Amino acid sequence: MNASNVWKADLYDDKLHYVSRFGKSIVGLLHSQKGERILDLGCGTGDLSYEISKSGALVTGMDSSDEMIAKAREKYPSIPFFIGDGETFRTNEKYDAVFSNAALHWMKNAEKVVESIEQALLPDGRFVAEFGGKGNVQTVIWGITEVLGQEYGVDAAKRNPWYFPSIGEYSALLEKCGLNVTYAHHFLRPTVLPDGEKGLYHWLAGFADDFFPEFSEGEKMVLYGKIKDKIEPYLWKDGVWEADYSRIQIIAVKAS
Ligand code: BEZ
Repeated sequence: MNASNVWKADLYDDKLHYVSRFGKSIVGLLHSQKGERILDLGCGTGDLSYEISKSGALVTGMDSSDEMIAKAREKYPSIPFFIGDGETFRTNEKYDAVFSNAALHWMKNAEKVVESIEQALLPDGRFVAEFGGKGNVQTVIWGITEVLGQEYGVDAAKRNPWYFPSIGEYSALLEKCGLNVTYAHHFLRPTVLPDGEKGLYHWLAGFADDFFPEFSEGEKMVLYGKIKDKIEPYLWKDGVWEADYSRIQIIAVKAS
């Protein structure tokens, strides 16, 4: 994940817990087996590492945020967790599978990430991941871009911390790095943000900080209100915020 994004582990667990809840679908595609060694890349506070460990697999969690890792260790003391950067990490141990949910879109140098994943896998090892695909949260990004551009003269595109590829783009990258794609699915998943009216504010505070580095907390509340006004006609539906999520689920196998 982007180091400049300060992760708030408590906010993540309290208000953004749906990230792990939705991730259970990609855990299903992992089909982890007892005794398999699995690396959970971008594990956050460890909920899905724990979910995978229920199969008897030997899971290790990795995240770039020391705050997330500290919380994961506190919640799941029997699972090993370490701090690592998805773009540069190397592991001594080789894994039967590298798993990742809702993390890869934070790593803009996707080629370096895939190279690291390939290095971490055993021959025939699999990579199973879900992350934001092309068009993900595009209405929210549009709202941020409009407000920052029109009112503050800031080019939001230069601050965008996310990488949302198409299946074609990402599959080409995997194949270039020695991973053969066996499954790929790109789908819309409109996502209700918990907490009614406050849902959008929690989302912006938890995920979109990279767009607003020079603003105080008070100024951010004003900005959030302006973004809300822009996107309300499209994403505020029957008393809830429904963010326009679009996901890629992908499986690839390391060539032996
Ligand atoms: C996502 O899970 O798609 C996502 C989360 C936060 C920011 C951007 C995308």
